[in-house]
Amino acid sequence: MIKLLSGEKIPLEMHKARIVQKISLKPIEERENAMVEAGFNTFLLRNRDVFMDMLTDSGVNAMSDKQQAAMFIADDSYAGSETFYRFEAKLKELFGMNFILPTHQGRACENIISKVLVEEGSVVPMNYHFTTSKAHIMLNGGSIEELLIEEGLETKSSFLFKGNMDIKKLKSLINKLGRDKIPFVRMEAGTNLIGGQPFSLENIKEVSKVCKDNSIILVMDASLLSDNLHFIKTREDACRSMSIKEITKEIADCCDIIYFSGRKLGSARGGGICLNNEEIYSKMKVLLTLYEGFITYGGMSVKEMEAITVGLEETMDEDIISQGPQFIEFMTNELKKNGVPVITPAGGLGCHIDALQFVSHIPQEKYPAGALAAAIYIISGIRGMERGTLSEERQTDGSDTLANLELVRLALPRRVFSLSHVKYAVDRITWLYQNRELIEGLKFTEEPEILRFFFGKLEPVSSWTNRLVEKFIEDFQTKL
Ligand code: F0G
Repeated sequence: MIKLLSGEKIPLEMHKARIVQKISLKPIEERENAMVEAGFNTFLLRNRDVFMDMLTDSGVNAMSDKQQAAMFIADDSYAGSETFYRFEAKLKELFGMNFILPTHQGRACENIISKVLVEEGSVVPMNYHFTTSKAHIMLNGGSIEELLIEEGLETKSSFLFKGNMDIKKLKSLINKLGRDKIPFVRMEAGTNLIGGQPFSLENIKEVSKVCKDNSIILVMDASLLSDNLHFIKTREDACRSMSIKEITKEIADCCDIIYFSGRKLGSARGGGICLNNEEIYSKMKVLLTLYEGFITYGGMSVKEMEAITVGLEETMDEDIISQGPQFIEFMTNELKKNGVPVITPAGGLGCHIDALQFVSHIPQEKYPAGALAAAIYIISGIRGMERGTLSEERQTDGSDTLANLELVRLALPRRVFSLSHVKYAVDRITWLYQNRELIEGLKFTEEPEILRFFFGKLEPVSSWTNRLVEKFIEDFQTKL
């Protein structure tokens, strides 16, 4: 952050753009039509109709010139590729682990880890679930226990490490179940579904101690590690003088297995599992070959593998990893100043809007976060992601599982948007907040049984979107 003459603090980009992509802002009626076509599901919008794509940071972070250059020297070969040995060496250097398995993306790691470690009746304690990690554990007959600290689900908070695990709860769960029922404990860096919130180094050390005392494996999902590293460095007093590399190594020393989505960590497209235990490695190696590809490419293009290797090294550079969190903090603080309910403190990944507060008049059964995501797209061309009841599966009796949090996530893929983009987003969302009573709920017209948030189609419960469009044109005197 840099302070201007006026006293205003702004994030300053430590990079310059050398390749750009044209985007367009369509008139509001066209955006409304596109939303209707997409069944009020932002996943089903076409990119040509989107102005700012804030759906996710997955696979869409801007690459560096060094990453692009590395892609040219990728060594294409089914077995024994030099690219793999560079990837393996970088991960060994950063995490200090003996065995490295490449995969095509994060959920492939979760498939393999769960198949090897989870059995019928297993319980996996974790700080908080991610959709795919939970699904793979359950597919293998296990269940999960979320042991997040109480502050974690408080939307307005000043607690700096809302992704921490509650150590007392972990100890009592182990006492209750016995260690044999627990194949591993999972800690997610930059905890996605609670707003990209970090754990502290102190906390993962404590979790690790409990795991070691009970001979339980500690697995870290490092997909969002870069944001978490930035927060440890800037928020945790004991770590201010440590380098990012030192913090990374201390975190890794706590863990038995580290896996990651290379669509996030390393800013390319792929994934990997790192571990020390040879017996587990041998079992995983077989599954890797069955599901992903040979052990020296694991379903990844060698170009992407080469880019991840460089991306991992760049993750050790504070200037590089601070860009995302600083832009998110700026956006979150500006929205907060304008009274818009946002998750605080700002986390990583994106700016998270609290839909339960924003549209408090919409009951959870009418999908407030889904309706808000649709409204944001219509009035701004910005595509966000619903993270609430719509993203849950129904209960066996057919009723909705009401989510703990109703969020609209506006991801900030790293190095993609400029400050004027962010100011535009803040402006339009503030207008929407001032006109929030116009937004009403949604109902399903096509509802798949599983993963309904990806493929399901909905419609507004009334003609509220027409009224929203009319008010927008009246207030702004423009259709853009
Ligand atoms: N773990 C975390 C914490 C994630 O955020 C993701 C993906 C995965 C695992 C799965 O990785 O997509 O490479 O298979 N998150 C994306 C998102 C989808 O938009 O937040 P993947």
